[in-house]
Amino acid sequence: MESTKVIGYRDAFQTLTNRDLAQSLYDESAIIMQDVILTTDGNEHVKRRKTEFHVFRKEISKKYEKYDFPNILNPILDEAAFKGNANLVELGHIVTMNVTADIAGIDRPLKSKNETENLLRLVKIFSEGATLVHSLKNKEIIKKKVFQSFKEFDKDFYMSSFERRKNLLNLFKKGEINEDELPKDILMILLINQDKLKLSNDVIKREVAFYLQAGSHSTANASVHAFHEIIEWKEKHPEDKFKLSNDMFFLQKCVFETLRLHPASPVAWRKAKCPVHLSNLKTVNEGDNVVIDLLGSNRDKSIFGEDAEQFNPHRKILEKFPPWGLSFGVGVHACLGRTLDGGEIPDQDSDPSVHNYGLITHFIKGLLDRDAKPSKDNPPVRDLNTQRPNWGSYSITFRS
Ligand code: HEM
Repeated sequence: MESTKVIGYRDAFQTLTNRDLAQSLYDESAIIMQDVILTTDGNEHVKRRKTEFHVFRKEISKKYEKYDFPNILNPILDEAAFKGNANLVELGHIVTMNVTADIAGIDRPLKSKNETENLLRLVKIFSEGATLVHSLKNKEIIKKKVFQSFKEFDKDFYMSSFERRKNLLNLFKKGEINEDELPKDILMILLINQDKLKLSNDVIKREVAFYLQAGSHSTANASVHAFHEIIEWKEKHPEDKFKLSNDMFFLQKCVFETLRLHPASPVAWRKAKCPVHLSNLKTVNEGDNVVIDLLGSNRDKSIFGEDAEQFNPHRKILEKFPPWGLSFGVGVHACLGRTLDGGEIPDQDSDPSVHNYGLITHFIKGLLDRDAKPSKDNPPVRDLNTQRPNWGSYSITFRS
């Protein structure tokens, strides 16, 4: 089996939108990724995506933005600020775990710190299982840990969430409750449509686990990158200090710029379903792998300018190119959580009081409002367990 590399924004875009290529980055991770939305293809994928899209409708994103984000962020950030210091990587995971558990449909009846940390511990192992392709650890040991954690997840979180929704569905079918009394999450929507989509209980469970890890890991990493880039920019550009504290549109631009420079995965992989002529004039045979360079494409000077390698929130980009580049994917597998995390791109008429800024911008605003700064005593360190360029630990301090 051959492997072909695609570089440059335009060719990467064409390749990601080519329907003769199927997802292949997670082939090694079947234990956790088999038959989840990201690894399904064709008609089955279209039907699943259409169904799950309901959880990401505009009015639901608006509700998260207005009520859920402040309710989740404020207590977590206040507690960290009161303590005076935190590891931003852990803080990011806790924040995003709270959001993605609600989206996925995992109940946390106690809503306690302990309970969320327990779920997070399991989800981190699912993440390791999902990103095996880039792992620098012993892959067989990770697979065993994923297997064990899945059992624990089933017992401590999944079964009760599943049963509660099954009961609600029965009450709804008997006409005893209305549709708006059903939770608006992935587990619920899949149970409602289980027969229509011909989904086994195992696939539904893996789908819920996929959402938990896909949503939380990428958001947490992006938030830490954003904080780092913004603090560095603030030091070098004191003239932007006021904007960073007072202009949410500017802060959101900083987040877009971070997402462009630091895609969650530096590459996307696809496998040819038949012989394919790629836009870069190369031809691949059925079964061949195509590796798409997302990190490099997002720094393509012909799209993002001569300083494309640099963080620059004042960057001007032609409207037809998204400011985050290819970081939320494009084509049939484009990220469903994009608006939730990144928000909407503002235009001249956007009203700052009702605009969707996304979770990451709100998180960063909460940190800056509490005067969070990188710790002078404990410099940040890279995650050495993966080839993905993430921060492993990032100590911050708050204003006393
Ligand atoms: C900064 C945060 C995030 C980044 C950078 C990100 C990035 C991506 C990318 C690049 C893909 C496409 C992968 C490919 O084509 O191979 C994707 C797919 C997906 N993302 Fe995200 N994501 C983020 C957050 C989220 C969140 C919060 C959720 C949900 C709670 C989510 C749900 C999904 C789903 C369901 C898919 C698969 C869509 C499909 O296959 O049709 N993501 N994401």
